[in-house]
Amino acid sequence: MNVTTERSAFREDLLSGKTAIVTGASRGIGAAIAQRLCETGANVVICSRSADTIAQVADTLQDKGYTLHAIVADISQKADVEALIEKTIAQFSQIDILVNNAGITRDMLLMRLKDEDWDAVLQTNLTGTMYCTRAVLRPMIRQRSGRIINISSVIGLMGNVGQASYAAAKAGILGLTKATAKEVGARGITVNAIAPGFITTDMTAQIPEQSQEQLREMIPLRGFGHPEDVADAVCFLASDAASYITGQTLQVDGGMVM
Ligand SMILES: NC(=O)c1ccc[n+]([C@@H]2O[C@H](COP(=O)([O-])OP(=O)(O)OC[C@H]3O[C@@H](n4cnc5c(N)ncnc54)[C@H](OP(=O)(O)O)[C@@H]3O)[C@@H](O)[C@H]2O)c1
Repeated sequence: MNVTTERSAFREDLLSGKTAIVTGASRGIGAAIAQRLCETGANVVICSRSADTIAQVADTLQDKGYTLHAIVADISQKADVEALIEKTIAQFSQIDILVNNAGITRDMLLMRLKDEDWDAVLQTNLTGTMYCTRAVLRPMIRQRSGRIINISSVIGLMGNVGQASYAAAKAGILGLTKATAKEVGARGITVNAIAPGFITTDMTAQIPEQSQEQLREMIPLRGFGHPEDVADAVCFLASDAASYITGQTLQVDGGMVM
């Protein structure tokens, strides 16, 4: 578990009274987003597939006095997503912010890619994002407000060798973001994407050290980003400061893609 200790630069009441769901928050970027949302005053519901690790994140943040609820849910399963939304409404009566963060990789050159690996990546990263988004629309439309923030990737913008499934899913998220933004804008709901570059988490720890060196040289701000860099972008998009922004992709990539 890598919940950060570094404090937020945002006001403690930035998201006071708001309820947020963060998917895939048992580690890495999702855990940092959950912490930042807590630090800025939101009530937070976190989910992942593994009961132990999500409970650890919840214990750490609850010990700090934050209002946070952990639910075991696999976002690739429609029934799990529906239960996640129902439990959140039962607990907090509203959903103001959805952060679609859960994601996986099954990297392989396309020629050797197995159907089941393609299916798993698309089902989790793209279909899971759609399930969660569709499920929060009804409560958000009722409230006539809401913020949906989808974690895509620069790989969805530029592609990458060995990542056809991941690139397709992350590019799909950008299309889903724009279409949903157009559908629900008149209902007071904004839908935006964040495209992180290389961020230091378990996901990027799989990249061999030599390749990491080469990647760092491609980044104008040198070095990989931190999960908190993405979390701060989420707080901005969830805040009133971003109320006239929708259908956009905010790159948090140290200038890697421009
Ligand atoms: N790290 C980067 O450089 C980078 C760059 C661009 C974009 N991103 C994106 O940012 C997001 C987070 O990445 P990360 O680096 O923090 O990854 P990570 O360390 O591998 O964490 C992924 C999180 O998602 C959860 N998860 C995976 N499948 C799930 C499912 N079906 N249902 C619910 N939860 C699920 C995992 O928990 P369980 O395994 O317990 O379910 C874990 O909490 C992903 O969407 C990733 O594609 C990351």
